[in-house]
Amino acid sequence: MKKLSARLECISEEIPDGASFIDIGTDHGYLGISRIVSGRSPFAILTDISRKSLGKAIMNAGEYCPEAVEDGLLRFVCCGGLEDIKPGSADCVVIAGMGGIEIVSILSAEPDKTKSFAKYILQPRNNAGRLRLALASAGIDIKKEKLVREGKFICEVITAEPDRNIMSGDTGCSAVMYGVDPEFTAEADYPELLVITGGDLTAEYLERKLKKEERNYSLNGHDKVTGARIARIKELAGRL
Ligand SMILES: C[S@@+](CC[C@H](N)C(=O)[O-])C[C@H]1O[C@@H](n2cnc3c(N)ncnc32)[C@H](O)[C@@H]1O
Repeated sequence: MKKLSARLECISEEIPDGASFIDIGTDHGYLGISRIVSGRSPFAILTDISRKSLGKAIMNAGEYCPEAVEDGLLRFVCCGGLEDIKPGSADCVVIAGMGGIEIVSILSAEPDKTKSFAKYILQPRNNAGRLRLALASAGIDIKKEKLVREGKFICEVITAEPDRNIMSGDTGCSAVMYGVDPEFTAEADYPELLVITGGDLTAEYLERKLKKEERNYSLNGHDKVTGARIARIKELAGRL
């Protein structure tokens, strides 16, 4: 099969060798196919809410690794989020290429099931700040933030692990403060981990975000939340 894109490769790197995983919203199925063909995962469950999208994964798997499908190393489930997935039925869960709010709704649908998986690799298309707060509120610790280029975009890849000591509930980071408390919002949108684990693209990422926030600052009549975001980006950039 053809090489994975840099974005999918970056996500794949976060799945430990030997770990099984569920790819929610798989569409083309390339992540699962690549991990199985290369022998890096013992099995993968590929899901999608859309029958048509899941059909692409089934077709591609049939082309690139029909034996793996026959042997049950690649399984396909048509469902929304974790709906038809058994608790703890794989080591990791990947949710990539979806909006941040959609990812939040998948993770918050069944909190106990969500906590039954050891590791999440999340790549939101937008609203990463809201997703980070939802993770904190659910007792899922963010361990790493990586940045990867895809065409004209720089994407965030968030690796997070449920804290098994916290059963549920708010850990003090209430998501309702997002957009209300300026410093709180700025830290959710631009976390410190970006300058620690973000990688080579961090400076460019912060520069682009600064331009965007400065534009918004003028348009929004110099509001406090955008002002705090600008200060936060400058602070992080100063640490590089
Ligand atoms: C843009 S594609 C991303 C494909 C792949 N994950 C990637 O990152 O390249 C988004 C896929 O997510 C699926 N999807 C959207 N909401 C979903 C949900 N709640 N549960 C499962 N799949 C969903 C869509 O049908 C679509 O196939």
